[in-house]
Amino acid sequence: MSSKNKRVLVTSGLPYSNGRLHVGHIAGAYLPADIYVRYLRLTGREVSFVCGSDDHGVAIMLTADKEGKTPAEVAQHYHRLQKADFEGLGIHFDVYGSTSQTKFHAKTSQNFFLKLFEKNCFEKKVTRQHYDETKQVFLPDRYVKGTCSFCDTPNQNGDQCENCGKVLDIETLKNPISVLSGKPASVRETTHWFLDLTQFQGAVERWLEKAEMRDTTKNYVRSLLSQGLVKRSMTRDISWGIPVPLDDPDAKGKVLYVWFDAPIGYISNTMQLCETRGENPEQYADWWKSPDTEIIHFIGEDNTIFHCVIWIAMLSAEGSFQLPKAVVVNQFLNIKFPDKEVEKISKSRGTAVWIGDYLAEGGNPDVLRYYLTAIAPEKARTVYKPEDLQLRNNTDLANTLGNFVNRVLSFTLKHVGNEVPAVDQSKIADADKSFVLRFEVTQLAVTGQISDYNFKNALELVMEFARECNRYVDEKAPWVTRKTDMETTKVTLCCGLNAIKLLGTLLAPFLPFAAAQINKALSIEDPKWADASRPLDPGTPIHSPGILFTKVE
Ligand code: 2FM
Ligand code: ZN
Repeated sequence: MSSKNKRVLVTSGLPYSNGRLHVGHIAGAYLPADIYVRYLRLTGREVSFVCGSDDHGVAIMLTADKEGKTPAEVAQHYHRLQKADFEGLGIHFDVYGSTSQTKFHAKTSQNFFLKLFEKNCFEKKVTRQHYDETKQVFLPDRYVKGTCSFCDTPNQNGDQCENCGKVLDIETLKNPISVLSGKPASVRETTHWFLDLTQFQGAVERWLEKAEMRDTTKNYVRSLLSQGLVKRSMTRDISWGIPVPLDDPDAKGKVLYVWFDAPIGYISNTMQLCETRGENPEQYADWWKSPDTEIIHFIGEDNTIFHCVIWIAMLSAEGSFQLPKAVVVNQFLNIKFPDKEVEKISKSRGTAVWIGDYLAEGGNPDVLRYYLTAIAPEKARTVYKPEDLQLRNNTDLANTLGNFVNRVLSFTLKHVGNEVPAVDQSKIADADKSFVLRFEVTQLAVTGQISDYNFKNALELVMEFARECNRYVDEKAPWVTRKTDMETTKVTLCCGLNAIKLLGTLLAPFLPFAAAQINKALSIEDPKWADASRPLDPGTPIHSPGILFTKVE
């Protein structure tokens, strides 16, 4: 939970710009962050929401090779597509930068590296590494395959055997083959700069105990730390990336490791944001170095070690930045197509639902946001089922939420008029009172869940309230009472309209498009979390909300 009155810098893991975005990406690091940011803003907090593309690394070079383009072209192409996908889903970053294009990024990363260098945090070491003689490149572990020398299983990745689970390295991977050329890989010596993580074991441990994160994440990081930190190379022998800023012949042609410069992208994108706002880019420090600000990272599970260990060690080593207050980690989302088994989302196997396709086919962004939050992989991996999305759309969104909002507003407009009616207090019955008592209770519970980053529970509470709203209107049956008792009918409708107001605010973080329609129908221009349970003033103009959700048969 972020502390009251502090400004909050929220980041989402920078996606690699070498492919399109699918539902797993969105459910992981982006949608929960957007929900949280929208919530904080409704409570009046000052927030900056920072993201951008992660353009470096070998994967992008490989894609470039395959597509006959330069890495820069690949990065720019997917950067544009991903940005459009986020916008289409209403995931609204204040800045969407790029580690290859944002003008502050290379210098900031190099200065960061130099500061660590000056503080003697690196060890320069000669290492042996696989090399592709045809392509003339050193091969990172992921681009070498071979036979596990422990169990003799062939075709294993260079870093780990899938069969026996043992960690593999250059000594224990037999008959190495380059994934790039399909030819045997040779071994060459090369020099690199290793960040001595052992120096920061204590700092990372102390941070971990204070930081907010899910129990699963904390336990996982504790287990990583219990194995003891090691030295990790922060430089690479590839041509695409940020040059190692050392005046040393051994540094020639080498670049920073992508996982060194990527998180620094959060900082350089903040500089970009300050400049876009007409401020001095150096004001980024107000977000990164001021005790009045808190930093919260949202990431997917595979990024945990980089954010909760290496990044914390990097920041501790640099010394002038504050450490993140929270790291919110979601697990992977699997997928299950009709008549198939549950599978991992995979581009190569074609088992993905692409955001671009969903939007191009006219998919409602709120429906996807709703479904991905309802099945959010917060505590464990969960499964996306296309037919489930449709079912949820029809039952929860169209039948429960849309129907309630629509029938109360349409009925009021038709039988009472286009303003919130004044009510005769003597007509307020026990059923109305107990219904209205639910408002603040619901809001308090939702607030608690969002503050603890439990977005799935929070949304479920709002939907439970929406079901309660339908039960209330069914019981009060204004279509019956209006024939004999207009004053009682007005009480029902007024309570119904106030419930819609509450829904419009509570749902705004989750379903921003539908919430905007609801708020417009109630003439609410600037919804505030603190006002959500407060009744509408009699005489407030009301309008038809239009269709919120269409049923799909
Ligand atoms: O896993 C990924 O997609 C990485 N590009 C995430 C980087 S997060 C941050 F460090 F930039
Ligand atoms: Zn093995």
